Amino acid sequence: MDFKDFKTHRTAPIEGQKPGTSGLRKKVAVFSEPGYLETYTQAIFNAIDPAGKTYVLGGDGRFFNSEAIVTILRMAAANGVTKIILGQNGILSTPAVSHLIRKRGADGGFILSASHNPGGPNGDFGLKYNTANGGPAPESITDKIVACAETISEYRISGDLPETLKTLSDLGSYTVDDMEIEVVDPVDDYAALMEDLFDFDAIRKMISSGFTLRFDAMHAVTGPYAIEILERRLGATTGSVVNAIPLLDFGGGHPDPNPVWAKDLFDHMHGPDAPDFGAASDGDGDRNMIVGKDIYVAPSDSLAVLAANAHLAPGYAHGIAGVARSMPTSAASDRVAEKLGIEAFQTPTGWKFFGTLLDAGRATLCGEESAGTGSDHVREKDGLWAVLLWLNILAVRGESVADILLDHWQTYGRDYYSRHDYEGLDTDAANALMAELKDKLPTLPGQTAAGLNVIAAEDFAYTDPIDGSVATGQGVILTYAGGARAMLRLSGTGTEGATLRVYLEQYTAPDGNLIRDTQEALSNVVAATSQVAGIQKLLGRTGPDVVS
Ligand code: G6P
Ligand code: ZN
Repeated sequence: MDFKDFKTHRTAPIEGQKPGTSGLRKKVAVFSEPGYLETYTQAIFNAIDPAGKTYVLGGDGRFFNSEAIVTILRMAAANGVTKIILGQNGILSTPAVSHLIRKRGADGGFILSASHNPGGPNGDFGLKYNTANGGPAPESITDKIVACAETISEYRISGDLPETLKTLSDLGSYTVDDMEIEVVDPVDDYAALMEDLFDFDAIRKMISSGFTLRFDAMHAVTGPYAIEILERRLGATTGSVVNAIPLLDFGGGHPDPNPVWAKDLFDHMHGPDAPDFGAASDGDGDRNMIVGKDIYVAPSDSLAVLAANAHLAPGYAHGIAGVARSMPTSAASDRVAEKLGIEAFQTPTGWKFFGTLLDAGRATLCGEESAGTGSDHVREKDGLWAVLLWLNILAVRGESVADILLDHWQTYGRDYYSRHDYEGLDTDAANALMAELKDKLPTLPGQTAAGLNVIAAEDFAYTDPIDGSVATGQGVILTYAGGARAMLRLSGTGTEGATLRVYLEQYTAPDGNLIRDTQEALSNVVAATSQVAGIQKLLGRTGPDVVS
């Protein structure tokens, strides 16, 4: 059969084909069922009218990545796409896709990843559609995709790819019948963008003067990017990038850069051989973890420190326009914005909500508690970008991570912060807990729980200041007297059961005790929130499964 000859296959709506916080994520076994990927891909095509358009395509290299790419290429051809810009071997990090869409003026892109979720035959897979601004599709488009998925009746797919292209490994441009496929190096354009934004000379000088670092790529997509940028271009010693080879199953690990899943790095940074700086990124390269010698930088603090110091990097030398954070991210960055006299935004969870603010030039930096930080250089969060901005700041200030963090708290005060996750919950029980909590919100202000006074209780809704779109039911915020806040929401990225996330924060002013143990500093707000939401009672759990 020829690539050009396409066939129309009958299909029907498939239960659960509904994108969550970040695209459609399912178990590999589900995604690879005959017709599953095809049906969802066609639903996206039906929603975006792809004929005559150009798209970027790539993924994090996890199990099923290559097979899915071949299918999407064949379907793109059958749906009249003019050109696909494809990462070599089907690899592109999420921020690299975002950059390529923007740089090439493409109409959008397809990212194959389940981010930080485990991979391999028993792991997860995902597909996300990004729009021409380089960012995740906004709800207006994901709603359209859902509507198309609910009414789908057929999909179109061409014949097989020519043998020369099947491996996806040779750089260059190929014209296959009416569609062009350009296979590009996944790292080149991205590395050039980083050189534009940051003072590579200053970082190189710091490293050649003895500054040491370790970057844990967690056997995921950032390995080749980090080797090129940190070792080749910035001169970090060979071996500074560990777990650098991307593997189909991430070496059996859970590629989520936090103290729990990046424990090796975390422990190393707290051990006798700790280098000056440690960092890690996730499956698709958009999340980051920053650790100094003996000190972990919480993502909310990282956003605040980066906002306060961004002007030290050439790409942000003229200052930043505003800082946006998701609702459950701590208020630390709001304090920086206030001092800088710039706007601060609180959006729902999910990077897609930052898009309009970035496009309109209202926000320059954005961040989330879920280890995501980024700026207007792309429209995704960006793990290596955060690492490089930290390195740039360290090089200019000539201080340690610990000194910079302490100085930050002494200037702005400290927002003690932690997230408690209750995993593998019965979905009905988790929904019932949130429903009961929402029902009693009006009665909560004025009540006292575990010695804390509730001063406000809201079901978070957001009106986008740029396009006026409204997102409701985005989680509950409990505000207590004395600078404490708790947020509760159900995770939107899991593939099994439900996860309740409880986000806790307590502000301490600059003249207060800034070096307490985090869980101890939060013990009152933990107790009050458990009581208010009835966590023990309704879930039958005595404590969280993961504390980060
Ligand atoms: C993805 C999105 C993030 C978001 C996170 C929330 O990683 O890209 O923007 O913060 O999901 O995950 P959750 O499991 O809490 O819904
Ligand atoms: Zn990710």
